[in-house]
Amino acid sequence: MPAFITNNSTRYGWAAIVLHWLIGILFIGQFMLGFIMVRLTSQRTAFELIQLHKSFGFLLLGLLILRIAWRLGNTAPALPASVGGLERRTAPLAHLALYGFQLAVPLSGWALVSVSMLEIPSMPFNLFVMPNLPLGVSDAAENFWALAHWYLAYAGIALVALHALAALRHHFWLRDSVLTRMITPSSDQDME
Ligand code: HEM
Repeated sequence: MPAFITNNSTRYGWAAIVLHWLIGILFIGQFMLGFIMVRLTSQRTAFELIQLHKSFGFLLLGLLILRIAWRLGNTAPALPASVGGLERRTAPLAHLALYGFQLAVPLSGWALVSVSMLEIPSMPFNLFVMPNLPLGVSDAAENFWALAHWYLAYAGIALVALHALAALRHHFWLRDSVLTRMITPSSDQDME
């Protein structure tokens, strides 16, 4: 595989970079779409947007599974020397939490539509029918998963904001390579 696709000991490769930004944009977009669609007065537009929200949610879940597989098979570059002791210990935990929320938010959304009394099928981008999760349909379960989806989405977006602020701090304050190495990929010239 060409060197610019995979990570090396100091830089991320194209695959990790593309998946990072694609998933980041989708997650933020999904949050905004979710926030807007539940506040609309037109039932028809709300229905269309919820279907779209479900489609992008499933796409995000698929990309995330791909990303986790890639991450497990492709070691991330070591943190630059400028990263201090405390951040060196907390950053991996924050990244693990980011993966956790990015999985839990779409999964809770999927659980929500699976237990909904409305029983509206999910058809990602009108391509196929996504089966529901094997959970019992009830009003109580629907309320539970709606609340879980809400809390997870808001906590997840707060963590994404913190993550973005940390990256900006590295770029503008500490002036190290933490942000730029997630923008420019590794190349054949990089020292391994
Ligand atoms: C990472 C992906 C996702 C994010 C960030 C996200 C975020 C949100 C947000 C912010 C809301 C509005 C909550 C509110 O303000 O009341 C929402 C609502 C909703 N989401 Fe998601 N969501 C995601 C994935 C999914 C998936 C995969 C599904 C279903 C397959 C789904 C189904 C729903 C439904 C049905 C609602 C409306 C809930 C209600 O009527 O109270 N979401 N989502």
